[in-house]
Amino acid sequence: MAYGGYGYIDKKYVPDENDFVVLMWAGGSEPIEKIAEAIAAESSVGSWTKLKTMNDFVWKNYRARVFWIGAVGKNSGFMKIAYPIEHFDAKNISQFQASVLGNIFGLKELKELYAFDISFPKRYQKQFSGPHAGLEGIRKLVGTERSRRPHVGTIVKPKVGLTPKEWANVAYEAYAGGLDLVKDDENLVDQDFCRWKDRLHEVVKAIEKAGGETGQNHLYSSNISDRHSRMVERVDYLNGMGLQKNIVVMLDVYIMGLNGLQEILDITKKYGFATHGHRAGFAAANRGDFGINFQIYERFYRLLGVDQLHIGTGVGKMEGSPLVIKRLHDIADQRRLEEKFYFGSLGMEFADSIKPMLSIASGGVDAGMIDALVALHGRDTNIQAGAGVHGHPGGTRKGALSLRQAIDAVMEGIPAREYAKTHRELAEALKQWGYFNPAVITEALESERKNAKGLAAAALKKGRAGML
Ligand code: 3PG
Repeated sequence: MAYGGYGYIDKKYVPDENDFVVLMWAGGSEPIEKIAEAIAAESSVGSWTKLKTMNDFVWKNYRARVFWIGAVGKNSGFMKIAYPIEHFDAKNISQFQASVLGNIFGLKELKELYAFDISFPKRYQKQFSGPHAGLEGIRKLVGTERSRRPHVGTIVKPKVGLTPKEWANVAYEAYAGGLDLVKDDENLVDQDFCRWKDRLHEVVKAIEKAGGETGQNHLYSSNISDRHSRMVERVDYLNGMGLQKNIVVMLDVYIMGLNGLQEILDITKKYGFATHGHRAGFAAANRGDFGINFQIYERFYRLLGVDQLHIGTGVGKMEGSPLVIKRLHDIADQRRLEEKFYFGSLGMEFADSIKPMLSIASGGVDAGMIDALVALHGRDTNIQAGAGVHGHPGGTRKGALSLRQAIDAVMEGIPAREYAKTHRELAEALKQWGYFNPAVITEALESERKNAKGLAAAALKKGRAGML
């Protein structure tokens, strides 16, 4: 079955170390083989009809090859497509997106198209420098290299509207209650009621005061997201103040796009700042029939050099089943991944030069979820709660204390419900919001581990729904 006069399906093809491999789900009005041919053609060298301009060299060296199809019914299925590295422009992520994540989403015979994941050849990865600080660098800033305890932080709420002094006072209460990090929300930057510089200066004072009391180095994730020139001004300003020890430069990474991100990360790295990636907006392209799984963006964020990144929680207010979120955690901090759902390996591995990122579990979290979050994310994580701190019956400081107590309980190996018997703030949080039993998570992970083949087989029956 050909598309535009050429056949792109080559089931005997075995991708080599210089191929990109993309896993897609597609469905539409044509047989799945024809759909696969169309996707491979439109994303590489072909079009809807035979070309007089095609030659053997182009065909041999630059075309995409569909080397596996997992049909689910006649007109839908999973597919793996390999692209040769020569197809891609060096360090040019726009060109990559225009190929693999581009026109194909508009083909009219498609009713569904979802890019699940991708493996990048190491040769391509080496064009990027990866995180500047990464997981270990952020641990060093907070002073947890030895203890290896999870980091814990808050997002000041209300999201917008507080004045700089009010905002910094909330931050101070959170630091004094023992939190490592306080952050701006994704929609707070430099509005009139809370100018970025004014807030920064107030928070620096709060960090100094709280640090004097806690003896700890505290971090502030300051949201600089804006057009490029303004972000550069802000990073210059932070550098002028010499705030590398306390400021993590926060970026709305999805909204600014990969190229904007690449540019500003060059500058934060030049000055030695760690960065914090908020992924607001990604779900718009992640939840419908046409979409791009966050894993693909996450891989780019790590290649480009985000140091800590929001990945969801698996237990809080945002979408994402525990197993899906576990995979995002593994992409953030590991080099080699097990690819249980992927119908065999895609050959994914990060190059040694690309440091691990610290993943951030954030969105609808409170102290009663800490045991479950640690069961899912492990201890190399930054757990954040906004409303789960500022909505505590005793206010921000007690909310912060409740989170820290839950973390202390984890480190002492005592379930939070038990620890709460002797820790009032934690008890109040559990009374207010309940306790998420970590057994739910451990059982899900165990069943995934035991039943990996069964899960892949189920996905081949249920289609994309079986992968969520
Ligand atoms: C975030 O930035 O992740 C959200 O603002 C989390 O807020 P919440 O803890 O109140 O859900």
